[in-house]
Amino acid sequence: MITMATKISIIFLTIILSLLITCSATDLPRLRHVRRPCKKFTVYLHETRYNGSNLANATSAIVGEPAWGNKTNLASTTRFGDLITFDNLLTKDNNTLSSPVGRAQGFYLYDNNKGLGAWHGFSMVFNNTKYKGSLTLAGENPLLMKTRDISVIGGTDDFFMHRGIATFETAYVDGLISYGLKVTVKLYEAGAYLNNFNYMPIPHNNKPMAAKTFTIPFLVILILSLLIVCSTAEFPQLRHVRRPCKRFVVYYHDLRYNGTNRDNATSAIVGEPDWALNKTKLARPTFFGDILTFDDPLTEDNNFTSPPVGRAQGFYLYDGKKDPGAWHGFSMVFNSTKYKGSLNIVGQNLITPETRDVSVTGGTGDFLMHRGIVTLKTDADVGQVYFRLRMEVKLYECWKLDE
Ligand SMILES: *[C@@H]1O[C@H](CO)[C@@H](O)[C@H](O)[C@H]1NC(C)=O
Ligand SMILES: *[C@@H]1O[C@H](CO)[C@@H](O)[C@H](O)[C@H]1NC(C)=O
Ligand SMILES: *[C@@H]1O[C@H](CO)[C@@H](O)[C@H](O)[C@H]1NC(C)=O
Ligand SMILES: *[C@@H]1O[C@H](CO)[C@@H](O)[C@H](O)[C@H]1NC(C)=O
Ligand SMILES: *[C@@H]1O[C@H](CO)[C@@H](O)[C@H](O)[C@H]1NC(C)=O
Repeated sequence: MITMATKISIIFLTIILSLLITCSATDLPRLRHVRRPCKKFTVYLHETRYNGSNLANATSAIVGEPAWGNKTNLASTTRFGDLITFDNLLTKDNNTLSSPVGRAQGFYLYDNNKGLGAWHGFSMVFNNTKYKGSLTLAGENPLLMKTRDISVIGGTDDFFMHRGIATFETAYVDGLISYGLKVTVKLYEAGAYLNNFNYMPIPHNNKPMAAKTFTIPFLVILILSLLIVCSTAEFPQLRHVRRPCKRFVVYYHDLRYNGTNRDNATSAIVGEPDWALNKTKLARPTFFGDILTFDDPLTEDNNFTSPPVGRAQGFYLYDGKKDPGAWHGFSMVFNSTKYKGSLNIVGQNLITPETRDVSVTGGTGDFLMHRGIVTLKTDADVGQVYFRLRMEVKLYECWKLDE
């Protein structure tokens, strides 16, 4: 005969099992549904391009061009091949005179030979009472469409590990040199780093649970907690992390080509603004407009001659017109006994603050689909020839492929 207690137990067990199945399904949310952004706001971006005589007011400049172009006029009607670096103003409304809420810094490259389109890579850097931190954007902007979406691929500080899209809409065009964009930012995924979270480790000496602990209050609590886990797993918009899943420090050495050090140099100017002297000296005063390509060694300690554990390869472009700044897009390629694989790093490096964060947006090999941040700290800066960065890599999302 089945007792009342057994019946209740069977009912509870069924509920728990079905919750577990639902939970485990939402635990691997490979297709993740979202209803609305976790953060949404609009800013206006204002740009004035350098045209040969407006250097004082220009916020952008042509720094690379095709054979048929030059650095003061856009190339042909499609502008195909022109590369522009910018340090643009962000305001909260459609008014260039409003007090800025941040800056948009980075580059775009006209890449449509028949129509009008540009590929953008830039960061929006906020430093106001509402938001502190940066968002990094990348993607194609098909300029002739009324609204265009480009990806928000990472963020720092208040935007730690945020992702989403930004919708561009042209607000105004003033001749060939000025325009305004309405940018609506919609963030669907956010990470929160719980710095001071009082973390309770799971004890290792757990005894097997005795049968008598399966009381009704215990089962109710179990079901409730499973329900909570399930409901948060279904809406993983804000994901809390306590500490990185991988964390390590590497040193990055950049020895610039200066006209005479071709054999030792690890980086070189490959694009520069109109007012730069040449490709052996950085443009004055803040290097704005200079683009450098690099193949820099990464070492475990800060000694340039230590055996490298990997290489940092990609580019940075100086995009601070008044204050120093550089936008980085590169990969760290590791081939050591510890790590094999690569990490992709993008974002604005403000240079002046003691430490600054840039985003890790992806990885391969041992770093399959990893995401996180890299904290940069200038470790040496010797004239305009050599600088060294301490890079603390902190990965908060790590994946492993089970074979
Ligand atoms: C450049 O733009 C400014 C307006 O900002 C204008 O006054 C000037 O005439 C332009 N110069 C050239 C060479 O087109
Ligand atoms: C720069 O802007 C100021 C005010 O915004 C204006 O008075 C000045 O004429 C501008 N200079 C140029 C070269 O466009
Ligand atoms: C740049 O190209 C434009 C035509 O696209 C031409 O009118 C202008 O003179 C050129 N400027 C320089 C400095 O070569
Ligand atoms: C943000 O603004 C404050 C006050 O103006 C300044 O002290 C601080 O250095 C700024 N932070 C960054 C990262 O620019
Ligand atoms: C932005 O302001 C300009 C005038 O400066 C106006 O012509 C334009 O229609 C405005 N655009 C939007 C989207 O409000």
